[in-house]
Amino acid sequence: MSDLFSVAGRTALVTGGTRGIGLMIARGLVEAGAKVYVSSRKPEACEAAAAELNQHGEAVALPADLSEEAEIARVAEELSAREQGLDILVNNAGATWGATLDEFPVSGWDKVMDLNLRSPFLLTQALLPLLRAAGTPDSPARIINVGSIDGLHVSPLPTYSYAASKAGLHHLTRVLAKELGPQHITVNAIAPGPFESKMMAATLAAVGDQIAASAPLRRIGRPDDMAGVAVYLASRAGSYVTGAVIPVDGGIGTTV
Ligand SMILES: NC(=O)c1ccc[n+]([C@@H]2O[C@H](COP(=O)([O-])OP(=O)(O)OC[C@H]3O[C@@H](n4cnc5c(N)ncnc54)[C@H](OP(=O)(O)O)[C@@H]3O)[C@@H](O)[C@H]2O)c1
Repeated sequence: MSDLFSVAGRTALVTGGTRGIGLMIARGLVEAGAKVYVSSRKPEACEAAAAELNQHGEAVALPADLSEEAEIARVAEELSAREQGLDILVNNAGATWGATLDEFPVSGWDKVMDLNLRSPFLLTQALLPLLRAAGTPDSPARIINVGSIDGLHVSPLPTYSYAASKAGLHHLTRVLAKELGPQHITVNAIAPGPFESKMMAATLAAVGDQIAASAPLRRIGRPDDMAGVAVYLASRAGSYVTGAVIPVDGGIGTTV
């Protein structure tokens, strides 16, 4: 059973892997045996996350602003120079923006749509040669997109571009799963509910108890909940799963 959920010998890139949900996923993959590149804008945050993860396995800092096309190309070049293939790509980096409908700014639309939807597409595109090099019929390469329950249900928050970007990412997951399956690459999405992070800090401080009480499982997410689903999708256990959008939300997205 430990072999079924092992990612030993695999190489992964986790975008936004320096904190929050990305770090939960990166830590899970490292502990399950993968070599994990962690990427975010801040070099010092990447170094700090890699140093922490290196206490449990192997991690490498790879700073980049993934909202920039040129930076995406550079990440692909750097990975190609260092690795023969990429087994696991986790498109996790994301941002949100809240404003009333009447006052919602163009900048809040573009920033969120670009980072949450355009960047995962462009990064996937740039890394296809490495993913194709890693995938085999028995052991496909994996793309894991981090969506949100806000792409499944209608959030009470005025986060229009965020909701649209996440619903778009979920459907892009299915579109790419169909095309990339025959190329030995699975594409799945995780749709998290509420988890502790910088992005969620203000919301959880204000209404965290209410959110937890509304969930059928009566709590917010824990790091192991996120690590568990990522390791499942990335390991041999998940090798026949593609095109799935998996809510990890204590039941909120499907029942509230
Ligand atoms: N927390 C939740 O409850 C929740 C629920 C549903 C979905 N999600 C999704 O989970 C993902 C992670 O969210 P989080 O809550 O963990 O947020 P977070 O704590 O704000 O972390 C975001 C991560 O993305 C990185 N990042 C931001 N802009 C970037 C850019 N332009 N280029 C590269 N990296 C960038 C950040 O590092 P730098 O600042 O150093 O760039 C950080 O590592 C997001 O896609 C989010 O939508 C979260």
